[in-house]
Amino acid sequence: MASVPSLASSLHQRIADALSAALPEAGAADPLLRRSDRADFQANGMLALAKKLGGNPRELAGKVVEGLPAGELIKEVEVSGPGFLNITITDEAITKTLAARAADERLGAPLAEHPGTTVIDWAQPNVAKEMHVGHLRNSVIGNAVVRILEFTGEKVISRHHIGDWGTQFGMLIQYLIEHPHELDHKAEGEVSGEEAMSNLNRLYKASRALFDADEEFKARARRRVVDLQAGDEETLALWQRFVDESKIYFYSVFDKLDVEIRDEDIVGESGYNDMLAETCRMLEESGVAVRSEGALCVFFDDVKGPDGNPVPLIVQKSDGGFGYAATDLSAIRDRVFNLKADTLLYVVDVRQSLHFKMVFETARRAGWLTDDVKAVQLGFGTVLGKDGKPFKTREGETVRLVDLLDEAIDRASAIVREKAQDLTEEEIAERGAQVGIGAVKYADLSTSAARDYKFDLDQMVSLNGDTSVYLQYAFARIQSILRKAGAAAPVAHPELALAPAERALGLHLDQFAATVAEAAGEFAPHKLAGYLYQLASLYTTFYDQCPVLKAEEEAQVENRLFLCDLTARTLRQGMELLGIRTPERL
Ligand code: ARG
Repeated sequence: MASVPSLASSLHQRIADALSAALPEAGAADPLLRRSDRADFQANGMLALAKKLGGNPRELAGKVVEGLPAGELIKEVEVSGPGFLNITITDEAITKTLAARAADERLGAPLAEHPGTTVIDWAQPNVAKEMHVGHLRNSVIGNAVVRILEFTGEKVISRHHIGDWGTQFGMLIQYLIEHPHELDHKAEGEVSGEEAMSNLNRLYKASRALFDADEEFKARARRRVVDLQAGDEETLALWQRFVDESKIYFYSVFDKLDVEIRDEDIVGESGYNDMLAETCRMLEESGVAVRSEGALCVFFDDVKGPDGNPVPLIVQKSDGGFGYAATDLSAIRDRVFNLKADTLLYVVDVRQSLHFKMVFETARRAGWLTDDVKAVQLGFGTVLGKDGKPFKTREGETVRLVDLLDEAIDRASAIVREKAQDLTEEEIAERGAQVGIGAVKYADLSTSAARDYKFDLDQMVSLNGDTSVYLQYAFARIQSILRKAGAAAPVAHPELALAPAERALGLHLDQFAATVAEAAGEFAPHKLAGYLYQLASLYTTFYDQCPVLKAEEEAQVENRLFLCDLTARTLRQGMELLGIRTPERL
């Protein structure tokens, strides 16, 4: 494992040094380096600096150039316009850096020297309820962020804060007591995810109907809630059956989504029951929370309702019941003090932003969150239908996640079948799932999480454009070239001159590690997705302009195969960090 500095960072350092030599009073001024179409890089920093210090930017730029002689890294530096620097890198430096990346299984990406501990709250469906498109987002984004953070060396602990507690269980449990065989299975492991969900749906509907129609049942259901909260054993055992039945269903959906969830990471709302009373006592004793009309509340100067009255965070209701906030506050105590997190991340719908703002602020006042702990809600936007409105079925109901996934897999399988020449039926089914699920994940990950996006399957499975299918085909095409070329390990030839398309591809390949670091630092998988799309596009241009197996000289064939191979490895690694498969053949 060897971390490889990027050409951009080496160049940045060189220019910064030349700048402070030319103008000592500039201190550690940023040369503002970026990729450019005219040369390889452009540095604009001289403009702002000359303005600030009252000099002529072209003159300053000229002096900086003197400190940047041509050499191994720099081929040429030119002053242009009002005082930009246009910088061209040597072909040799590009190929050598790429060879160093290729020699490292992490493609030259460093591991954090002092990794922290992140507890990430993601993939949190609700017991006895169907999973919908919102759960697609918290699963897909959460999974990508986990993978990206782990790749940087961070210790990541997942918490699936499933909705497994609440008054609705009184009704469900009471119904099951009165209809004892409703959840019986023929034998262990005999129930599919779909069957489990339909059992739960049936029970939910039947108990709801009884609850609404029968006052006596309603009273019994309410008493059952009290038993549940008091920890009555029989009641808890029945509650557990609902949780278990739901887990059969959740796991079947996560399996289809190709997202791995570990049982020990499922710590739902119920997991914090033992802490709730203490959390409230601590808040009340410290004065962070106060009694208001019987409820225990936390107030905020800047949170007011439409009538101008403050809207408090209610940690305990006037009837003594604890709600969502008390649970989340207890979870913070657990994550900070027991799990020793220094970052708390919540992949949750932006519509819960106010809740998290109030919860974090309360935890800060209580001293549970200190300056050493970062708490962030990675809030995601709404999935919209083609009409731009929140995604609904024609009947106006929320769309079942499973139905969407099945449709995506069907569409993708049709495409794979059409393109496949030598694939068996089994292979088509496997690839179809990888392409279809990849398409759904990529569409979700390729725009920044906070934005809404339209769920448009036609666009998602398109072979052209910013889709995972395009990326997967680019990867598979490279594999087929490499297979044709034979098994020899790729050899780089730094002595060869590079064509423009090779340079562009090479400079982009060199940015992989920096892009991953940026995506990790900002919890922004879309930055990695954008990088990969550009990589595949640059590869397509390279492939159109530079014959690989039919290149003129043997050394050039080898160097181009080397570029193909590194592109494929970068695509595969990048897609893996997004949780998307890259089949070898398509
Ligand atoms: N179960 C909730 C829902 O489906 C999301 C839970 C989010 N996590 C949390 N710690 N509150 O909306």
